[in-house]
Amino acid sequence: MHYSLVSDSWGKEEVKAINKVIKSNIYTYKGKYVKEFENKFARYFKTKYAVMVNSGSSANLLSVASLFFKKKKPLKKGDEVIVPTLSWSTTYYPLQQYGLKLKFVDIDMETLNVSVDDIIQATTKKTKLIVAVNILGNPIELSKLRLFCQKRKIYLMEDNCESMGAKTNGRYSGTFGIVNTFSTFFSHHISTIEGGLILTDNFEIYNLLLSLRSHGWTRDISKNFYLKKDQKKYENYCFTLPGYNVRPTNLNAAVGIEQLKKLTNLINIRRQNHKFFFSLFKDDKRFIIQKFNKEHSCFAFTLIFRPKYKYIKKKVFAALKKNKIEFRLITGGSFFKHPVKKYFDYSKYNGSTMVDYVHENGFFIGNHPKNIKKELTFFKNILQNI
Ligand SMILES: Cc1ncc(COP(=O)(O)O)c(C=O)c1O
Repeated sequence: MHYSLVSDSWGKEEVKAINKVIKSNIYTYKGKYVKEFENKFARYFKTKYAVMVNSGSSANLLSVASLFFKKKKPLKKGDEVIVPTLSWSTTYYPLQQYGLKLKFVDIDMETLNVSVDDIIQATTKKTKLIVAVNILGNPIELSKLRLFCQKRKIYLMEDNCESMGAKTNGRYSGTFGIVNTFSTFFSHHISTIEGGLILTDNFEIYNLLLSLRSHGWTRDISKNFYLKKDQKKYENYCFTLPGYNVRPTNLNAAVGIEQLKKLTNLINIRRQNHKFFFSLFKDDKRFIIQKFNKEHSCFAFTLIFRPKYKYIKKKVFAALKKNKIEFRLITGGSFFKHPVKKYFDYSKYNGSTMVDYVHENGFFIGNHPKNIKKELTFFKNILQNI
């Protein structure tokens, strides 16, 4: 049996959607599906605005950039940002690229998230932004963090790229920050091949994102949002921000519309798979498995060898390879184990013992948008024999 890391969540509807775009002969983001997908995505998550881009990484980039170009209280080079020690590389990169100082807060080994109390403790007068990352379908205590940020006038950004469709206290993760990012890359909860989205309730941020997405020009934003009256005449090609081109295509968006219709069901399937995984591994003394919040959108199944059983790691990894069970480092592993850290201006609030342990002794296997009882049973049997 080949137990792969990811599988397809598409059906014939997505193929039809692509064909519709081909027939329309309008492939770029100016076709009608990008706007339609954005509107539907925003409505699904009960937020005001969605902006689609070409990846979750671009969603992070534009989100950080938009906070630098806000008229009131923009972020400035040298400001402090709090981040968790476990995330994907491109959660961190825009923060470095815009000259922020990163303060890392270590994760909790069971949830793989940071505790909000630790974030609060780590905050100082210099802290201007907190990036909350919801790891592998498991939201952190976002209500508490949002309240804290509101009180202290600190920007909250959620990197929700791994947790689409999860909720905490009945509210979707990815809706608590001033900017909130999602990935729709192939392996994620829904797939537009490549793709990403940003959600915001802030009209100014929305307009900044539209401009930053597309060359920094004013053409896509609400009439004259960033223009003085006498600049009106240049509107077709008026560049007001040092932006990018990270636009999606009409093809990605048309597929996204079909995928969004399936999201609730896809999350339910993932939760069912998780139930089964949990029943197989909850009493296995060799591993720590991720502790989920009730309304999770389980992305993958993590296993961390407990100290007493670290020595079986080599055997387990060899058996998985031999039996074609794909596995990976948990999310991006420890930031501190990657050479790229040398480019960053960073400090650690409470060390990195937990994330370093997870990096050395943890791995994940895939959850899928279909029933995988057979694969999980196969996996359990392989581990049983070690
Ligand atoms: C937490 C997190 N942020 C950002 C990204 C980047 O998303 P993308 O691969 O769409 O660029 C990922 C990718 O999986 C991720 O896990």
